[in-house]
Amino acid sequence: MSHAQQAQISSKVCFVRAYAKINLTLDVLRRQPDGYHELATVMQTIDLHDTICLTATGDQRVHMICTTPALSNLDNLAARAVDKVRQRLGWHQGVRIELYKRIPMAAGLGGGSSDAAAVLLALRQWWQLPFSSTDLLSMAASLGSDVPFFLTGGLALCEGRGERVSPLVRYWPASMRWLLLLKPVISLSTAAVFRALSATDYTDGTHSKAVSAALNAHSDPPLDHLHNGLERSVLERYPAVAQAREDLLSAGAAVVRLSGSGPTLFAPFAELASALDVQHQMQAMEYEVYLSRATNPSHGDVSLF
Ligand code: C5P
Repeated sequence: MSHAQQAQISSKVCFVRAYAKINLTLDVLRRQPDGYHELATVMQTIDLHDTICLTATGDQRVHMICTTPALSNLDNLAARAVDKVRQRLGWHQGVRIELYKRIPMAAGLGGGSSDAAAVLLALRQWWQLPFSSTDLLSMAASLGSDVPFFLTGGLALCEGRGERVSPLVRYWPASMRWLLLLKPVISLSTAAVFRALSATDYTDGTHSKAVSAALNAHSDPPLDHLHNGLERSVLERYPAVAQAREDLLSAGAAVVRLSGSGPTLFAPFAELASALDVQHQMQAMEYEVYLSRATNPSHGDVSLF
């Protein structure tokens, strides 16, 4: 029996948190011949999180149980991440995945990608796997464009399809201390949002460079550089998102931006009282809202029992 298999027997259960993200910027540079788009995007993990519990089973199968029934199947990225590791190792160890979903799905908050990255990190620690960072990165990138970012989280500039991750300095502006997220009722497919882009939505990466440089210099990013190249198309095509944006602005939010491919909007606030005031107004209009903050997760988020 290998060292790793002994380690797996000594601990039967493993919990891990998977954090959501927002995109401070998202420059779409061009469409590549493979259909993907070349991006430059500044992302930050936030404290809205899913909780995943992994349990060893004796039946050599992967079981996926999620609090959101539509995600209780083996297509779930968390299940695909377990399978990816088992295939890589040539192991048949059975695993039951219980996923307590709090991050809205298909919302632009990276929930599925974060679950996948959390599973990779958890299995590495639980089974004491000798995976290098390069091994983990290549498994992560094969699961989805945002998955590599979630291996480290925090604040990072992500380029290429999103898989080239450069961590930025751990600085977060006081003007963005509180983040109000609003998830309109619709769900959007990332692929459909990218397909709807026109060439006029493309930028050269200036916005992401300017915001990265400002944050690295511990200064507030210039507001006109908090640009998301997917926003124009989403606001034009989905009136529910445009209406939600108007409602946030009317309620007193100074800045409102789309996160990723949406439809979630985020509004930053310096003070909790102002964020709560807008949150209450949005709740009175029956919007789904979350009050969150930036967080820098550590691998210590894995708990073994
Ligand atoms: O990589 P992931 O599976 O998360 O991407 C979902 C879809 O989003 C892709 O199939 C593609 O249509 C689109 N996408 C893109 N360019 C990227 C990332 C995603 O066009 N850089």
